[in-house]
Amino acid sequence: MKPKLDLVIFGGTGDLSTRKLLPALFQLHRHQLAERLHRIIATGRATIPDEKFRDTVRDNLQTFLPAGEWSEEVWSTFRERLHYTTINASEPADYLALGQLLDNAQAPGRLYYLATLPSLYGEICRQLHAAAVVNEHSGVVLEKPLGHDLASCQEINEQVAQVFLEEHTFRIDHYLGKETVQNLLAVRFGNPLFSPMWRNNFVDNVQITVAEDIGVEGRADYYAKTGALRDMVQNHLLQLLSIVAMEPPVSLRAADIRDEKMKALRALVPINADKARECTVRGRYSAGAVNGTAVKGFLEEAEFESADATETFVAIKATINNWRWAGVPFYLRTGKRLSRRYSEIVIEYKRLPFSLFTNDPNELTNKLVIHLQPEESISLHTLNKKPGLTNKLSLQPVELHLTDASRGKADRYDAYERLLLDAINGDQTLFMRRDEVETAWRWIDTIIEAWEQNGTPIKDYNSGTMGPNAATALAAVDGRSWYE
Ligand SMILES: NC(=O)c1ccc[n+]([C@@H]2O[C@H](COP(=O)([O-])OP(=O)(O)OC[C@H]3O[C@@H](n4cnc5c(N)ncnc54)[C@H](OP(=O)(O)O)[C@@H]3O)[C@@H](O)[C@H]2O)c1
Repeated sequence: MKPKLDLVIFGGTGDLSTRKLLPALFQLHRHQLAERLHRIIATGRATIPDEKFRDTVRDNLQTFLPAGEWSEEVWSTFRERLHYTTINASEPADYLALGQLLDNAQAPGRLYYLATLPSLYGEICRQLHAAAVVNEHSGVVLEKPLGHDLASCQEINEQVAQVFLEEHTFRIDHYLGKETVQNLLAVRFGNPLFSPMWRNNFVDNVQITVAEDIGVEGRADYYAKTGALRDMVQNHLLQLLSIVAMEPPVSLRAADIRDEKMKALRALVPINADKARECTVRGRYSAGAVNGTAVKGFLEEAEFESADATETFVAIKATINNWRWAGVPFYLRTGKRLSRRYSEIVIEYKRLPFSLFTNDPNELTNKLVIHLQPEESISLHTLNKKPGLTNKLSLQPVELHLTDASRGKADRYDAYERLLLDAINGDQTLFMRRDEVETAWRWIDTIIEAWEQNGTPIKDYNSGTMGPNAATALAAVDGRSWYE
């Protein structure tokens, strides 16, 4: 049995803690899942007495917990676990005070969750080490973004590595905490029906879409320096791609799964300046209407110098050069102010070589569709006879839902519950290893350099659509279309 631990949240007063981390911890406490967890110590720069902090958390939980999940009874014991201590990231005395608070033989373990500006990660780790509050049972959780390019990511990783072992470092991509992403492993490796067909002999193309209907909202300044490629593709989309494309691991242990994901990322063909012209599309939303509401364009919202060099949409045709995937395009797209909010992975199987039926063989294909949000489910699109007393047989699509209908409320959880529980228990399977993150950045950096070299234009799209026409053309020139 691993020793009990205290969880220290840097950024304990911030948006992420308020909306995600503290509600997730409340739910873990409710279900008595986090047995190793002793205390939750939130930190921020302000001086706030424990009782006042608890009052604020109580109000926030009532707002941000899923409907019907608030419970006075659960709160009465959860609140006892909650503490607050003042830490300014660069103030050594604050870490010494933390050390006194942590000095607890009952819970020798420590898990530091860095939910604050990534530019502070190095400083926080250095100060934790200097104050001698890192021991052999200590781990660290790092929120994204880990840098804005390979060099800055390596710098953060290096600073963290001077204090924490890689096997105690948990890099979060909350998409990996989704039940359906884990179910994808079950579907792929648990079903002889699918496993042999998960390759280029049978799969025509793979599509990964992460669509947001919101704009940059209050994050315009951050976003103006970041853009869709860095903000979404480097982490979420490439993580999903690596799980779809990986070879079967030799076991479900973290190291074995991450080795295979890493190999898939390494097989991604770099998109240099020549390829970028035909394989990438950059877009930027202009004014339009989303869900019936008129909205402004990005440039009206982000009045920054570099804003006109920032894409809010990107589509990519990626290629994986290995035996399994050679010749299968992976179409990736993500953007803001699109027609609706959804994330999904589509595995589209090859077309019929010719049609016995009245349908055009190009018209209908089998697809495995993995929906990640807003609802999580998996469905298989098959073809059946169109019913009726007609002379000619024709096909129609029929969707088979592979989601467990008995999945009850108790089986539903937020991705942060899964990830916090795993980090507390020291299970790294659903976290990104250093080499994965850096390999992903290397691939992204090549695209950014190619865009700079080519002066790749950013094409406007109306808010409320699925991006610029060029994104449709990216698949259409190959005789394919995005699944909508
Ligand atoms: N919000 C999200 O949904 C989300 C999603 C994914 C990833 N993230 C990542 O999570 C991290 C936090 O995001 P957020 O949205 O929660 O940010 P936020 O609302 O701006 O909160 C920042 C937190 O950091 C603390 N902080 C700021 N400067 C500090 C300093 N010098 N020393 C000590 N503490 C300091 C703030 O505390 P005080 O102001 O009280 O001192 C506050 O608790 C970022 O890396 C972000 O990219 C956020």
